[in-house]
This record gives sequence, C-alpha cells and structure tokens, in this order.
Amino acid sequence: MTPDADPIAAPVARLHGDAFAANPEAAYDALRAAGPVAWAEIADGVHALIVTSHRTAITLLNDAATYSKDSRHWTALQQGLVPANSPVLALMAFRPSLLYADDDRHVRLRRAMDDCLARIDLHNLHEITQRHARELIAAFAHVGHADLMTQYADTLPLRVFTDLLGCPAQLVDPMLAACQGMIDAGPQAEQASHDLARCLNDIIELKTSHPGRDCTSWMLSHPAELTHEEIMHQLVVLIGAGTIPTAAWIASSLRLLLTDDDYSSNLTGGAVTVRRAMEQVLWVRSPMANFSAHYARHDTTLDGIDIPAGVPILISHAATGTDPTLPDLGYDNRAHLAWSAGPHRCPADSQAAVITQAGIETLLDQLWNLDLTNPDVPNRHGPFHQCPSALDIRFRPQPADAFATPTASTGRYP
Ligand code: HEM
Repeated sequence: MTPDADPIAAPVARLHGDAFAANPEAAYDALRAAGPVAWAEIADGVHALIVTSHRTAITLLNDAATYSKDSRHWTALQQGLVPANSPVLALMAFRPSLLYADDDRHVRLRRAMDDCLARIDLHNLHEITQRHARELIAAFAHVGHADLMTQYADTLPLRVFTDLLGCPAQLVDPMLAACQGMIDAGPQAEQASHDLARCLNDIIELKTSHPGRDCTSWMLSHPAELTHEEIMHQLVVLIGAGTIPTAAWIASSLRLLLTDDDYSSNLTGGAVTVRRAMEQVLWVRSPMANFSAHYARHDTTLDGIDIPAGVPILISHAATGTDPTLPDLGYDNRAHLAWSAGPHRCPADSQAAVITQAGIETLLDQLWNLDLTNPDVPNRHGPFHQCPSALDIRFRPQPADAFATPTASTGRYP
C-alpha cells in the first residue's frame, strides 16, 4: 500500500477551518499536487480521500460495483474513532434514504424520488419562488441595506420547500426554525434535526388522511410503497440536499453578478446574463464543494492510487470544476460535475435552476443601485458546501408601501 492510501498517512490539506474558508483553491492545489486522489482532514480527527481529478471522479462515480454509498462501510466510524459530535456526521452518518442506498434498494427509492420530482410543475415552481422572494425582499426593501445570505438566499429555498412538501400553515414556522438550526450546524443542530423529523412525521400523518398535490402525498401514494419511516428519510434528503446547495448557488451567482465587470455592467441583460452567471458558478464555485461520499467494498486501486476498503472517498466537485488539465470548454458546456454523475447524480437540476434563477431575477428586478459592500468575505466553514458567509448589500431604499401583496399566486403549491 502506498503512503497515499494509508489511512493514517498525514493529510495534505485541511478542508475545514479558517484557512480553507478563506482560500479553498490553496487546499485543492495541495491535493492535486499529491495525485488524483489524496488524503485530507475534513473535520477535527476525521480523514477522507479526496478526488480532485475530473477524469478520476467520473471513473469512480460510474463504478457502483466497486464503490458503495452506504456509510456503514466506514471502518473508523464503526470502530468509534470518529468523534461522536463531529459536524461531518450530520451528512455522512447512515440514514435509510436513497443517498446511502446501493443497487436495487437505491433504484426503488430513487424511482419514487424521480417520479415525485417530475410531478412538480416548473411554471408553478417559478411563481411560488417569485412570491416568496417578493415577501422576503419586502421585509428589508425600505431599509436600504441587507445581508442577502441570511435575509434572502438561506430562507428562500426553505420557504419554497414548505410549499412543495404541503406543509400546513401551523407547521411552517417550526419547520423553518428546525431547518435553519440544521443549516447553522451549531450546538442546537441535533435538537433541530429531531424537530425537523417531528414536523415531517406530522406532515406525513396529515397527508395520509388528507392527500394533496404535494411531494409528501405523491411519495405516500407511489407504487414503490415506501413505509412512513422511509418517506420521512426521503423528505429529510429532499430538504437537506435541496435547500443548502440552492442557497449557495443563489449567493455565489449573485456575488459574481454584482462583482464581475462582465456581468455587473450588463445586469439589464436579464435572464441570459443571470443564466450565464449561474452556469459559471457551477464550474468555478460548485455549491456542493466536496461530497458524494463513497466507500470501496474491497481494497482496490483508482488511477494508480491504492484505495483501502472502508475509508470515505469524497468527490471534490469544486476542484474537478477547476481541474487545470481540463481543456477550456467554456462555461456553457455542461461537462462539470457540480451535479455529480452516475446513479446518484442530482435528480433535481431543473427544479434547482428554476428556484435559483427566479430568486436572482426577482431580487435584481426589485432593488436598484445594488452595491455589494463585502465582496471578499470567506466562505462558510465546513468541507461540504461552498457558500459566501455573508453578502452585505446597499441599495436605494424603496418606499415602505412599494410592495403590494401579489395576487397571482394561490399561496400554496401548485
Ligand atoms: C431543488 C433543489 C434540489 C433538490 C430537490 C435536490 C435533491 C437531491 C437528491 C434527492 C439527491 C440524492 C440523489 C441520490 O442519492 O440518488 C441529490 C444529490 C445531489 N445533489 Fe441535489 N438537489 C437540489 C439542488 C442541488 C444543487 C443546487 C446542487 C449543486 C449545484 C446539487 C448537487 C447535488 C449533488 C452533487 C448530489 C450527489 C450527492 C451524492 O452523491 O452523495 N443539488 N440532490
């Protein structure tokens, strides 16, 4: 076994902490110099192999016979060597959902997810997003400044998802609070995770007796006959996988639009300009930075690197997008791995694009003379997502009564 593949080999980079949040490319450069796959520390005392090469990532992601998504294969976790309170466990510890499932079980859960997502009407999704966007903007439009991260990008996808899930009015605030607690990943995260599970169980009970036109009801009536527990875990993935990267996509695209001269001088370019910035972000600031954890089912090699069984291997979606060995394909090209690839590729790229584009366009329509006052803030901490920690803007304040309540929307999905 080469030193690169030795689980106790010194990591060549830290994918957490202040330095990584301030300059992730330095960590990716160090990893690239050590090979297409190299060791990193992803949290205190937690090590993983990271794939930075685009080509190697595609090989791994399409080899389900060798690599499993089931984190019960993670030897260090099974042996109690991962600190029980490690922040990475929120996304890496096993749950009985499609994200950690292989083979036939994944096919069954994935089909239920795909079929539910396919029933979301994208036109309605656009309208719902616009309505929530306008409500959020109305809360700060008269002030003349805001942190678009906490006051807009974080909250917008969450609100949209309460509609998609058919969340009844009395559960919207508890659900938003629980999701926000999980996103904050602070000491309250575990309590927030229990609160979210309770909200989702309540929604599942309600939709069992009163089905509607929402993802929860569609999941309940799906021919795959998922149990309530399976549905609860599917919905946790739907929210977790759906909201946090979408918030990051909105934020990074807005930052690019407001700071890059090519875009900021052309904001009147409308949808085309916004869409181009969104595509560029998928290449150069992938919202999922390092994710898609896999575990080799047996000792193996990957592009000449020994891969021991039972260690987590993460795809650096961020580093593969900026892989210097890639030919210059232009940002319109969709060959990036921001959505991953293979059986677990994100099933919701169209839905995510609708939410992101509607969120950005509504904001740019509603607020004028936008100026980003802190363009160089570091990212949020943590290895998984790539997202600015704040987006402070100033703009021309609007009269308090400028935002009439829109009438076009029903207020509920669809
Ligand atoms: C409407 C918003 C979204 C929804 C509902 C959603 C949903 C999901 C679901 C259910 C999965 C699990 C698929 C499986 O394991 O078979 C997934 C995976 C994934 N999603 Fe999304 N997603 C959304 C937005 C995004 C965004 C904005 C990004 C980044 C650009 C993203 C990147 C990914 C990646 C990289 C994976 C693979 C994860 C893995 O293999 O572990 N998603 N998504």
